[in-house]
Amino acid sequence: MAEIIKHDLLILGSGLAGLRAAVEASIQTSGKINIGLISKVQLMRSHSVCAEGGTAAALRPEEGDSPGLHAWDSVKGSDFLADQDAVSRFAEIMPSEILQLDRWGIPWSRRLDGRIDQRPFGGHSFPRAVYAADKTGFFEMQTLYDNLLRYNNFKRYDEWFATKLIVEKGEFKGLTALNMANGGLYLFCAKALLIASGGAGRLFGFTTFSHSVTGDGIAMAYRAGLPIKDLEFMQFHPTGLVPSGILMTEACRGEGGYLVNSKGERFMDKYASKLKELAPRDIVSRSSMTEIEEGRGFKEPSGLDFVHLDLRHLGADKINERLPLIREVCLNFLNLDPIDKPIPVRPVQHYTMGGIHTDINGAAPVKGIWAAGEAACVSLHGGNRLGANSTAECLAWGKIAGAEAAKWAVSGGAICEQEAKNAVPEEEKRIFQDILKRSGKENVYRIRAEMRETMDKNLGVFRTEESIKSGLEKIKELQARFQQASIQDKSRTYNTQLIHYLELDGLLDLAEILVRGALQRKESRGGHARRDFPKRDDDNFLWHTIAKYTDKGPEFSTLPVSITTWKPVERKY
Ligand code: FUM
Repeated sequence: MAEIIKHDLLILGSGLAGLRAAVEASIQTSGKINIGLISKVQLMRSHSVCAEGGTAAALRPEEGDSPGLHAWDSVKGSDFLADQDAVSRFAEIMPSEILQLDRWGIPWSRRLDGRIDQRPFGGHSFPRAVYAADKTGFFEMQTLYDNLLRYNNFKRYDEWFATKLIVEKGEFKGLTALNMANGGLYLFCAKALLIASGGAGRLFGFTTFSHSVTGDGIAMAYRAGLPIKDLEFMQFHPTGLVPSGILMTEACRGEGGYLVNSKGERFMDKYASKLKELAPRDIVSRSSMTEIEEGRGFKEPSGLDFVHLDLRHLGADKINERLPLIREVCLNFLNLDPIDKPIPVRPVQHYTMGGIHTDINGAAPVKGIWAAGEAACVSLHGGNRLGANSTAECLAWGKIAGAEAAKWAVSGGAICEQEAKNAVPEEEKRIFQDILKRSGKENVYRIRAEMRETMDKNLGVFRTEESIKSGLEKIKELQARFQQASIQDKSRTYNTQLIHYLELDGLLDLAEILVRGALQRKESRGGHARRDFPKRDDDNFLWHTIAKYTDKGPEFSTLPVSITTWKPVERKY
């Protein structure tokens, strides 16, 4: 029988949202809460360290900015699918989060007068991205982890992979996790669980995301019966480095960089005459893709045709001071110096707007479970997230959900050891007998590659009924073939092939939800752009998509959008 590990609060994921939640839970309970922090990677390898350009907050009322303006920009940017009460709460909280991190020691980039600097970002009507050069996520992670170390109430489970969420009668009971170092399966019991395990970027091949970002928390929640919201909305960032997909931060354009086609034209003039390169990402990505598809891109042997991101006019000093990581990545990956040469870029998968459905406090509709950050869908971002609102969301809902989960753990929840234990034998059999011992001719890595090719090709920046249906057919084929996939490595210690199998199992579920959701949404809104339905259709589609697990595939329903302040209008930039 699996060993049992008990905590008051379990946090799944050690990125920005998970760490902010751990710090807040510790503050709220004066360090008395006992936290288990589970991560499939070493803590500082969480993908949040890759966040580059900034964190949005309305810091300067004296210069004309306000939380209300931040909220309006975000709602308009979301193509009116965001829940407006959530957005307003977020915008109100963010200035104090920035100052809190400042007090905790983060080295924000500053103006000459010593005040925290802010740079322009897409769709924001005010320079609102607070930043630390172009390594913002790294410094935020380091600051939060440093502060968590002031408490000795938590235990880290780095390189542990959660395999099953145990929910009974609408209540959280526990979860099972593999300790990758020894291959053992353990049962975690706790009064509360906060899922902060990130998005599902690695559904796609051409993505800015680390290989670890495989939507495990979302998939595990789905299998346990939690509702998954708005998964058809994937964000494509306009500037992925070709051919690797590495993020060339929006800060390049915030600092004044241009997008240029093969005719030497600064083409964004045509698509968003006011904001140009700093229009929201859905618009800039569609514009770049149109240039490429209409033959005004540069040819690339791999087929990843591109446009140019030109920083040369910014000069060496500005590039070295504000965008050092961008220069380093271009030099290391392409032997190209952006001081002298334009950078080859094209739209790239960048963010999962959907996720585990939660209320405005980050609570999932299962007693004892919260979700925060990219794994969650509050919904702050609706159909399209504004740049710099993601690290911000991790801070805001890390704090909110961390406090709520801690409150529950110290006053309401109970550890349900017996009920949790009952679920373990079946999970042990699934992993060690059914999966590890299985023989079959299909290869996990081939199926994964074909899934990513399919998503890139059929569910990219532009979609049609035909492309989505062909995507669905392929995903169904891959799900069937996955039943015949086997694992050649039969060992227990660091069996990464087993982990990749489990990741793919969840990714195939999420792919199906995304594709079916995209098929039924016969309109274009935010990151979901259909060539056959090019207009937003508020009469028929101003709702959130909800998907729930059944053994025959996802069952869909809808939820209303919370419209508290602004009626949907046409977006003009
Ligand atoms: O371009 C960037 O630096 C990305 C920021 C974000 O996704 O918020």
